[in-house]
Amino acid sequence: MNKILNNILEAVGGTPVIRLNRLPGPEDAEVLVKFEGLNAGGSVKSRTALSLIESAEAEGLIRPGYSILTECTTGNQGIGIAFVSAVKGYHAVIAVPEHYGVERVKLMRAYGARVIITPVGKDQTETILNCRKACEELKARYPDRVFWLQQYRNIANPKIHRQRTAAEILYQTDGKLDAFVHAIGTGGTLGGVSALLKAAIPNIKIYCAEPYEGALEAAGRRGLHRQQGIGDGIPSRFLDRSLIDGFLTVTDEEAYETARKLASQEGILAGVSSGCSVHAALQVARQLGKGKRVLTICADTGERYLEGDLWQYEPEWDLP
Ligand SMILES: Cc1ncc(COP(=O)(O)O)c(C=O)c1O
Repeated sequence: MNKILNNILEAVGGTPVIRLNRLPGPEDAEVLVKFEGLNAGGSVKSRTALSLIESAEAEGLIRPGYSILTECTTGNQGIGIAFVSAVKGYHAVIAVPEHYGVERVKLMRAYGARVIITPVGKDQTETILNCRKACEELKARYPDRVFWLQQYRNIANPKIHRQRTAAEILYQTDGKLDAFVHAIGTGGTLGGVSALLKAAIPNIKIYCAEPYEGALEAAGRRGLHRQQGIGDGIPSRFLDRSLIDGFLTVTDEEAYETARKLASQEGILAGVSSGCSVHAALQVARQLGKGKRVLTICADTGERYLEGDLWQYEPEWDLP
């Protein structure tokens, strides 16, 4: 363990890999989760935000105290950018579609960012386009100062997952892994991690999970759904389809139920997209069977969903 860190950004990464003991069946493969809810900043997006900002710094495109960093995001990326900007001294202006959680907006503001709420469209794609328009308008107003981080197209997004997230997974599992499963938003995590894992573990299988209604990669669907952060209706630029061995779709009900079981039976309080990823990982574990090992990533902390409906349920058990 490090002694004194120079700032909290040095605590980003190094998240634990945890075995699930109660959700997989006795004949299923072992299921491991890398829990990004324990990341500094509360999600996997702390890694991406740091990478997007530090690559722009390295190219001399931004400077603290002057540059305005902007992004269109459903939440976690915005919190990540606000978090990194707070430490480095940037102005952060985040555009967020209005139906996304109030906690996220509060967290961005807590880290000192300005937030623009944008209208929901008829589907996921139009919702994101409305959000992007807010960034375009800001850029038109302050052309010299605004830097749009562009997580959907900036190669610094998958790069950090290939260089760090995947390297951590290889180290933590000693490279003993039969499958990697992950839900897809920008595809930065899945694209970056699978690039290194495929190169390092020749027989590994890679699976992409999506919300059923928003299964763009698997079925061309762009519908609205309740799994924040994934199934955005924008094709991923970071997904090398030749590395993907299969696609799985997960309904909102399945994602919610799995996130609840993850908390109540494994003690891992993670968000809805983690419910999607873990549900898909459990399906793969059933197919692969005992003796094999599957890993997925839980992208954020479930405390980010306290004001929504994820945790509005009564656990069903009685004292004997
Ligand atoms: C909660 C959550 N899960 C998963 C993802 C997907 O990550 P990626 O954009 O790397 O595909 C995101 C992205 O914002 C997210 O917020």
